[in-house]
Amino acid sequence: MAGQANWLELDGKVAVVTGGAGGIGSAIIRRLAHAGAVPVALDRDEERLAALKSEMAAEGHEVLPVQCDLADEKAIETAAAEMRQQVGPADILVNNAGLAKPGRLMSLPLEDWHALLAVNLDSYFLCARAFGAHMVEKGRGAMVHIASVAAHNPRVVGGAYSVSKAGVLMLSSQLAGDLGASGVRSNVVSPGLFMTPMSVANYENDPTIRERREAMIPLGRIGETQEVADAVLFFASDRSSYMTGQFLVVDGGMSQGILTLLP
Ligand SMILES: NC(=O)c1ccc[n+]([C@@H]2O[C@H](COP(=O)([O-])OP(=O)(O)OC[C@H]3O[C@@H](n4cnc5c(N)ncnc54)[C@H](O)[C@@H]3O)[C@@H](O)[C@H]2O)c1
Repeated sequence: MAGQANWLELDGKVAVVTGGAGGIGSAIIRRLAHAGAVPVALDRDEERLAALKSEMAAEGHEVLPVQCDLADEKAIETAAAEMRQQVGPADILVNNAGLAKPGRLMSLPLEDWHALLAVNLDSYFLCARAFGAHMVEKGRGAMVHIASVAAHNPRVVGGAYSVSKAGVLMLSSQLAGDLGASGVRSNVVSPGLFMTPMSVANYENDPTIRERREAMIPLGRIGETQEVADAVLFFASDRSSYMTGQFLVVDGGMSQGILTLLP
């Protein structure tokens, strides 16, 4: 781990991760802490934030947990100001919070559409604005936004999920253009299939699902959350200093398999 920490040169960088108490978010927080960064976890789930803090303390690492409803613009502004007071301005933002509200578009309640976009897209914009201001002031920074393979491929039963994730791709590209001259980069990581609190019900409801899904993935398995975190740390660090407006797909090759489904 020490070699990796040197390679990434993230020592002392203040790194904000939204949805930091969740499956992928907590893996990113852990990787950041191991690399010497100062991780800040923004999440609405107080219990999971507290559990993360004590688990990390037992591993000899620290995290600053900040309870925040990311669907609330004021709450995000307050969290950004409080966090700045405690640990200083953000060097890194990982927009990762997300939720799913499955359904077919023709019968999707507008309420579900709005609730999903509020977290999966609006909060990404609001956090980019709030924490991006710290970075512009410093003249440098890195934003990494978590999209999904669903950003590149529609899923008919996914409600507004693919729409929100496709929006994340364009938000990131637009930020890259807007903030490049200020030394701030913006990139996307698109995960494939991972076992997290968000997705676990899919697997529990049907014991054959895992095997059937793994058969669609060239690497033959569901991913490990730290495999998303590793791609995030690359974009968060200066090892990607000449990359902005780009995306990495972390899916074991799943999205390359569409033609193998042809009859
Ligand atoms: N799990 C997968 O297979 C998968 C695949 C592709 C993309 N993703 C994306 O990865 C990201 C992380 O998802 P995950 O799988 O770790 O899910 P998760 O449910 O484990 O984590 C999501 C976190 O977001 C937080 N959150 C949701 N709404 C919030 C709000 N209003 N305010 C504050 N926090 C809020 C939750 O409390 C939770 O801790 C999401 O953007 C998701 O869309 C996940």
